[in-house]
Amino acid sequence: MPIFYGKSTLMDYLKSIKTPHSTIGFVPTMGALHEGHLALMQKSLMENKNTVVSIFVNPTQFNNPDDLAKYPRTLEADIKKLNALDPNIILYAPSVEDIYEGNVQSQSFDFDGLENQMEGKFRPGHFDGVGTIVKRLFEIVEPTNAYFGEKDFQQLQIVKKMVAKSGLKVTVIGCPIFRESNHLAMSSRNERLSTQERDEAAIIYKTLNIAKEKFKNDSANSVGEWVQNSFKKNSNFSLEYFVIADEAQLLPCVRKNKNKKYRAFIAVLVNNIRLIDTISLN
Ligand code: PAJ
Repeated sequence: MPIFYGKSTLMDYLKSIKTPHSTIGFVPTMGALHEGHLALMQKSLMENKNTVVSIFVNPTQFNNPDDLAKYPRTLEADIKKLNALDPNIILYAPSVEDIYEGNVQSQSFDFDGLENQMEGKFRPGHFDGVGTIVKRLFEIVEPTNAYFGEKDFQQLQIVKKMVAKSGLKVTVIGCPIFRESNHLAMSSRNERLSTQERDEAAIIYKTLNIAKEKFKNDSANSVGEWVQNSFKKNSNFSLEYFVIADEAQLLPCVRKNKNKKYRAFIAVLVNNIRLIDTISLN
């Protein structure tokens, strides 16, 4: 499998394999690869001549230094998984220096308000960090198509907005959430959960499903209250937020509008490990 640790050798390589009709699919990740990541890659492999995967734990998108320090780094195991999936995958695993060239800082973005709710509210600066790294990676890889998971739905919408505003020529493709057998959304952070916490974390998706059912007849506000109350009864899991928002603008739903598509978003802390999930409501 071709592996690159520096952008200039990667760019030279990509130039050398480029043909008039070739396409590049790109899957940016922070590693600790799981089947959710692999599903994005599989889609890219099916839809493009070449697939580039990046593994880079991006420091500027972590607002919590402890979360950054404890983020799992498993490059050797990741390389084995990529090789098993398809040895033609091109891996870019840069250093912080290769990406930031001595200036580890985010650019400041205006995502037309998409950045103000949920993850943006609870993780100040997070989306500037995401925008900075994704834009930089797009400039290096110059992909035709880029694949992002709906698990991070707000991130997906923000990346689409960043592309639209910056005029980059890449199609951003959203992919469904991959879940463990108890329906917990797969996440690199799940590796930090104990077996018991992992089992009990099934409550997150269960809650989202009940909320979906309730939203058919109840207001967003009353569904939200029900979720808050049900988490108060559970001492191991603390609810950071539960929000029902429209998919396009990500604004919290005050009064239902039948022309809008809604989604529930949830963030939960288990033993200081932060888990997020989302479900489409209509
Ligand atoms: P990371 O959390 O490693 O996720 C990489 C990609 O995999 C993201 O698009 C994410 O939404 C997707 N993904 C994660 N879990 C998934 C699941 N269970 N099902 C489907 N897709 C899933 O998201 C990031 O990294 C970073 O913010 C990044 C975009 C790489 C920028 O640093």
